[in-house]
Amino acid sequence: MSAKNSRREFLGIAAATVAGASLFSRRAISQSAAGVPALVGGTPVYKGNWPAWPEWRQDWEPSILDVLRSGRWYRGSGQQVQQFEAAYAALLGARRCLATASGTTALIVAMHVLDVDAGDEVIVSPFTFIASYNAILICKALPVLADTDPATLTVDPASIESRITERTRAVMPVHIYGMPCDMDPIMATARKHGVAVIEDACQAWLAEYKGRMCGTIGDLGCFSFQNSKHLPSGEGGAITGDSDDLLDRASSFHDCGRSYGGFKGARPNFTRGGNFRMQHFQAAMLLQQLEKLKQDTARRRENADRLTASLKEIAGIRPVRLPEDSRAVWHLYPFRYDAEKFQGLPRETFIKAMRAEGIPCSTGYQEQYFDGLLDEAINSRGFKRLFSAQRLKDYRDSFQELKGNREVCATTVAFTQNLLLAGRADVDLIPEAIRKIQAHGAELAKRV
Ligand SMILES: Cc1ncc(COP(=O)(O)O)c(C=O)c1O
Repeated sequence: MSAKNSRREFLGIAAATVAGASLFSRRAISQSAAGVPALVGGTPVYKGNWPAWPEWRQDWEPSILDVLRSGRWYRGSGQQVQQFEAAYAALLGARRCLATASGTTALIVAMHVLDVDAGDEVIVSPFTFIASYNAILICKALPVLADTDPATLTVDPASIESRITERTRAVMPVHIYGMPCDMDPIMATARKHGVAVIEDACQAWLAEYKGRMCGTIGDLGCFSFQNSKHLPSGEGGAITGDSDDLLDRASSFHDCGRSYGGFKGARPNFTRGGNFRMQHFQAAMLLQQLEKLKQDTARRRENADRLTASLKEIAGIRPVRLPEDSRAVWHLYPFRYDAEKFQGLPRETFIKAMRAEGIPCSTGYQEQYFDGLLDEAINSRGFKRLFSAQRLKDYRDSFQELKGNREVCATTVAFTQNLLLAGRADVDLIPEAIRKIQAHGAELAKRV
């Protein structure tokens, strides 16, 4: 830091000390905004360590050892998976829950029991982790992409209806980053056309929409408990729902097609199915973390509200709009970045500058439908057999229509959830770092 800056810093602090605490914090922020960005040699705004993720507690270990020593490791013996299912259903207010090996397998099982078959179409949010697309492709169905609402980052409900064809079997809204989709208009459109709704709630444990938990509003909801998630067990997933028929079918399909409850299948013993079962080790880990999930969620929400209030005041930073009467759980905390208000500083350099300030962040999902995955699928022998050449051409052309999603992919920046588990004082440094970078936007744009 230059002598000139050190002096300015000193004067700022000295003046604030005289004027009192509230003035101090304002001065401290403006002083820091004037400081040299860490990316070009200044002092980082944050030098600590953000909370590590995932967290494990030693006093949880006996329950894992119990499973280990019992020798009852798989679902067919032992009780932990069933206990977790009961506890998770109760936590969400769902009648039933079926634990699965992963979020992806939860989606596959859910689609199977809702009769998504080869050659069908499923309408899905494009702004999502690639697993949402892949689960549909594994069912040999076409993931038809609705558009994203740039204000919410979730699917624009108004973009769904025009994409419904005679092959559409389901709509898959994704509560991305733990932000609820606007479910009322989505459900209304789906019901009007007689198609099922599978909520991809893989990032939305305890997110709420109009008094109901995400994952309990559509026909079935799917969750992931993979390592990075708010309720992690390395791998794992769940399906929630109220229909005994669907959950009995799902239980059967996920367990090699064994008869289950009221569902006997086509034959006396087995019907179609796979092995998508969760292990008791995973369930024991999850059971231990349910209370923590509630506490962490409250903390993330409190910090996110505080952060949103500050970010709203910064020109060029647009926090997301949540649907009315809904509560997010912030698997990531996203906002949209307007480079013009940062003196032309490109988003990628803004991210580098934030990281240098000690505030990790990244872009959101990219326009992954142009990455070749969907091309590979629609050029495969199977898809060419299942869909007409004209349908596949129109499908490929339709990616160009996703204007809202393009804007979202080009402008989103996001913080990971663990930042929201930090103390208030640390979270307050996030807007401070943004202001500092903003004050030096032109200079950073030229120098980096
Ligand atoms: C939105 C979304 N859908 C589906 C999945 C798939 O879950 P899993 O990784 O447990 O298979 C994930 C996981 O990251 C996800 O974020």
